[in-house]
Amino acid sequence: MGTKIVGTGVYLPRTVLTNLDLENMVDTTDEWITTRTGIKERRIAKEESVLEMALNASAEAIREAGVSPREIDAVIVATLTPEKRFPSTGCLLQAELGVDKGFAFDISAACSGFIYALEIADSLLKTEKADRVLIVGVEKLSEIVDWEDRSTCVLFGDGAGAVLLERSSDGSDVLASRMYSDGNLWDLLYADNCGYIKMKGRELFKVAVRNMEEVCREVLETAGVGPEEVDVVIPHQANVRIINSLAERLGIPRERFFVNIERYGNTSAASIPIALHEALKGGKVERGDLVLFTAMGGGLTWGAVLIRF
Ligand code: ACO
Repeated sequence: MGTKIVGTGVYLPRTVLTNLDLENMVDTTDEWITTRTGIKERRIAKEESVLEMALNASAEAIREAGVSPREIDAVIVATLTPEKRFPSTGCLLQAELGVDKGFAFDISAACSGFIYALEIADSLLKTEKADRVLIVGVEKLSEIVDWEDRSTCVLFGDGAGAVLLERSSDGSDVLASRMYSDGNLWDLLYADNCGYIKMKGRELFKVAVRNMEEVCREVLETAGVGPEEVDVVIPHQANVRIINSLAERLGIPRERFFVNIERYGNTSAASIPIALHEALKGGKVERGDLVLFTAMGGGLTWGAVLIRF
């Protein structure tokens, strides 16, 4: 039995903040942001709460799958900006959706949260601890960004992406996955005592490229798949230069990497499910494709998942 993605959904906040808007807020330029990161604009959740964004993305994924919320028995939310300190956003979402059995919880793995959620969901399905799992990446990073710090405020955005998974015997599957962390490197990316994101950008850049390359190679090797066989790579959208370096080091043509960072910036745990949804809607991913996901984030955490879509 394999694990199959049967529905995806997104929610993107209405408010758009462009690089030109940022020029009026901090000492920066559209040119600096574009050339260093690839970002042109990002969404800011002014009116929407974390739970509302998660709910909207989930509702779309459930609708697309054509199932009832009552048929879902696990809800996993990856976020570093939960709705409340507790209970988990997963439990709040479970209630809002009308999921009335099973269990729900949150994952705190920063930008790698969706990769962790996907690996855990696959394990739950394969061990028959759950029959249908909803995983959501949702972030309201605008609340933890210091809007006076130009080195970080230009990078991040808000949004949500959801994916519904179930067991299937039609060939779709999670072929291999791996998650890692190294707590010794926590101070490369963290929230300070005021709750604001602090980051050692240059060091993080190097570690991100190296770790994502290694874990992608490991996952491909485990699955017995060569880099040239991968149809689409959906990486965490942190910086287009990180993505370009990764493509070069893995020897996978850059055209096979799905990138939408120019419109949303780095949405942490939400970036991969948002990108997957857009790749599907744009016809960039089709049934039977080999799709590789990879991410790296605060913790430090990183990982990769290879699926047969
Ligand atoms: N506008 C204009 N100038 C700026 C800005 C800005 N927004 N921010 C920083 N600068 C200046 C700096 O002050 C510095 O000036 P100086 O040389 O006079 O001191 C100069 O630009 C270069 O700064 P660096 O930080 O060295 O620039 P770098 O080329 O490393 O780019 C960046 C910074 C984009 C953050 C890059 O290091 C990066 O992307 N790192 C990866 C980190 C990341 O993506 N983190 C997100 C979460 S982790 C993850 O998901 C992987």
